[in-house]
Amino acid sequence: MANTILVGAQWGDEGKGKIIDVLTEQSDIVVRYAGGNNAGHTVFLGPKKYVLHLVPSGILRKNKLCVIGNGVVVDPIGLVEEIVGLQKIGIKVTPKNFVLSETAHVVFPYHRELDGARELLKGKNKIGTTKRGIGPAYGDKAARVGLRVNDLVDPARLEEKLSSRIKENNAILKSLGAKPLSFKKVFTEYLAAGKFLKPFVTNTVVLLHHAMRDSANILFEGAQGTFLDIDHGTYPFVTSSNTTAGGACTGSGVPPHRMDRVVGVMKAYTTRVGEGPLPTENAEISDLLHGMGREFGATTGRARRCGWFDSVATRHATMVNGIDDLAITNLDGLDTVENIKVCVAYRHGKTQYDYMPNDAEILAQCVPIYVEFEGWLTPTEKCKTFKQLPKKAQAYLKAIAELTNANLYIASVGPGRDQTIFV
Ligand code: GDP
Ligand code: IMO
Ligand code: MG
Repeated sequence: MANTILVGAQWGDEGKGKIIDVLTEQSDIVVRYAGGNNAGHTVFLGPKKYVLHLVPSGILRKNKLCVIGNGVVVDPIGLVEEIVGLQKIGIKVTPKNFVLSETAHVVFPYHRELDGARELLKGKNKIGTTKRGIGPAYGDKAARVGLRVNDLVDPARLEEKLSSRIKENNAILKSLGAKPLSFKKVFTEYLAAGKFLKPFVTNTVVLLHHAMRDSANILFEGAQGTFLDIDHGTYPFVTSSNTTAGGACTGSGVPPHRMDRVVGVMKAYTTRVGEGPLPTENAEISDLLHGMGREFGATTGRARRCGWFDSVATRHATMVNGIDDLAITNLDGLDTVENIKVCVAYRHGKTQYDYMPNDAEILAQCVPIYVEFEGWLTPTEKCKTFKQLPKKAQAYLKAIAELTNANLYIASVGPGRDQTIFV
């Protein structure tokens, strides 16, 4: 399969976990390259549901190496919990099939506290973060005051660096009206987590280059989505990493000329969790999907905001990620909709946009221009081939792929592995 980058083409939760699990079969290595445990990637094996936050979704397949790359921010307490949780249910996680970059940055409790305190301070302008400390952790990385995994696993270094960081952060927390942290408590917890994680820690850049020399096929697992990217998303309503395809290079140390293709994952409609503009948001489709028990966040349990498919957004995603192939998920979510709308442009005053305006305030005022498709009004969850899909569903998939300007590669009609149609 060569080296493939998989990205979310919308606002996150596109079904990346499921598609990663499917594509892992053809890969040797799966690498997470951005984000932290703000991500929630759902994979079903038969009736069993797994939600992965930091460990790559490839872990559920045997004999695959899973890597957390340098671009990820790692909450070690969360990671240990996740590893132990997987081991308890019989999923093998050992240094043979799971490794962690020594240069990934570490998320500390003060990052989480600051995340929460800043959100409170913002009031109605809040971002609606996952409160996992992601923004402050990437902030420390950029400010060059972060601790990396190799600091975490060295007790003397951890003690020295952490004590100075806690001092500074406690002063900030106090000024924001939040409770200061106990150095001793945090140090004890992180020391234990560092000890647990040490056997998994390695130089993942060298490891990946050795693997490529040996012709390994690598799958790069994106987290979040294109419009949550710190540069290309609806700033400031974004996460703090480069979630787009370029992030796979910087977040892993694999250079651009070694990347062979980009797969964009998108839902057959649109969802977003958290604040910020969502031009095609629609109460009717939200109610329909929530009524079916769908579209509740995998990490925070919040109800996702839902809307019609937005091809202005996905076309933009093709542009910034270089998407070659599309995996369109949740087609079955539209099985009962009589008239399906697709946004093809935005109107803002007298201006018509066929691309995403950069300014989130302008985007929030944009009115979608829709075309309509006739619904197929037939269950699709049991369809195994493209031909078995209702003709109207085939037409819809072809149309949204064409509007997105990329090749239709996978259609997904349910959360299971076997509900995946290769087109
Ligand atoms: P991710 O963050 O991109 O991995 O996506 P999430 O796991 O947060 O959310 C996607 C949700 O859609 C999960 O509950 C998946 O099990 C589910 N899912 C993925 N593909 C399909 C599909 O084709 N049909 C249905 N019904 N559910 C799907
Ligand atoms: P996966 O990988 C959906 C959203 C949050 C919030 C904004 C910033 O499962 O697709 P953060 O905690 O990162 O500072 O929050 O980004 N967000 C996600 N939304 N899926 C995700 O990950 C997300 N990770 C962050 O809701 O709006
Ligand atoms: Mg998710």
